[in-house]
Amino acid sequence: MTAPALRPRPVPGLGFQAIGAEEEALVLDVLRRKEPFRYYGVDPTKPPPMTAQLEKEFREYIGTDYALAVTSGSAALEVAMAACGIGPGDEVIVTAWSWIACFTTIVRVGARPVLAEIDESLNLDPKEIARLTTPKTRAVIVVHYQGVAAAMEPIELEAHRRGLYVIEDCAQSLGTRYRGRQIGTWSDIATYSFQYNKVATSGEGGMIVTRDQRLYERAVRMSDLGNFRPVHAAQVPAKEPAFAGGQFRMSELTAAMALAQLRKVDRIRDHCRALQTRIVARLQGLKGLKLRPVADPAGDFGFEPYLILDDASKVAAFRDKLDALNVNCGQRTGTYPQYNRDYVKTGLSHAPAASPFRGFKDWPAPGYRAENFPRTEDLTKRFIALPLGWLYTEADADHIADSVLAVHREVLG
Ligand SMILES: Cc1ncc(COP(=O)(O)O)c(C=O)c1O
Repeated sequence: MTAPALRPRPVPGLGFQAIGAEEEALVLDVLRRKEPFRYYGVDPTKPPPMTAQLEKEFREYIGTDYALAVTSGSAALEVAMAACGIGPGDEVIVTAWSWIACFTTIVRVGARPVLAEIDESLNLDPKEIARLTTPKTRAVIVVHYQGVAAAMEPIELEAHRRGLYVIEDCAQSLGTRYRGRQIGTWSDIATYSFQYNKVATSGEGGMIVTRDQRLYERAVRMSDLGNFRPVHAAQVPAKEPAFAGGQFRMSELTAAMALAQLRKVDRIRDHCRALQTRIVARLQGLKGLKLRPVADPAGDFGFEPYLILDDASKVAAFRDKLDALNVNCGQRTGTYPQYNRDYVKTGLSHAPAASPFRGFKDWPAPGYRAENFPRTEDLTKRFIALPLGWLYTEADADHIADSVLAVHREVLG
């Protein structure tokens, strides 16, 4: 096969590329009412509607009981852990291959992140829970990496039989399903992000969902300086004692935009899925290369298919040649292994006594060094991500498949 004709590089982006009249109308509504604060507005007795409406539609969309809007996906993780009562002396298992906040928020609540290997799905290997659980382990954070659900059935089984909380980090994967249910319903508590790169965005923003009344009340208190205001008490009667919380409240402006975007998630998913299906159908059974295995292909969001090459030494050439054909093939999230990041190498927190690593004599200790993660090291050096987006067309998808086939022949044929 000769190299396909060059096409213009497709324009990347998910939710932000779908911003339009709907976002404008809802944001303007907040401005015109002069009510950007969620708990009261012009009439001090009447909370404005936007954040409450976002929470209502979000919990209906996910199919859960409670949703709480917060300022970011990182805030959501911190609030979720605080709701579970996780703090100093506790350990939390999380994949080494995960976003910065998956690690730093554990440190922020005073607990110690314990890093786990991924498997070929690029999500948590469920067997890691048995290997890494100690008497101090309180929770497992499960990151659904880039629109693909982790294997929640075995993960939930392994974690719950050990008495651990399961926290799903759905920041990258709103709208993804596993075994017919939305992710975020497979755990004790789950978190989402509306940051700019996400499937639905309000620039910044986050959400927490749970079915547990107690966790909901504690999450609200953590997000609002320990308060539990009437709008929340109308859903769940206050039972928990007040404690010193943080301040992670979403504004009505953020909620307006997130609400307009939430209503577009299924359309964005259907668009991406259709393009991904078109591409992967043509990439089956290629020598030396396979596609990222997906625990439940029917629930896959489909915004980023991954090629996994057998031979790491061929990846750079493969990627360069795809790039020369104007195929976007970078790593969209900026994810790279936690053990290679500066804050892990220093082991520092904002104050020495707050660091969960202060007891270790030699740092980085075992469990925080690249050599302890042979599978993560191997896998993350062998993949090529092929991001898709809201503005990608069928012709773009066909060009991606044509280009992968041509480059495959040249590099691996
Ligand atoms: C897996 C994961 N968790 C948490 C976050 C944090 O979200 P935010 O940027 O909204 O704080 C992100 C953001 O990229 C993420 O990808």
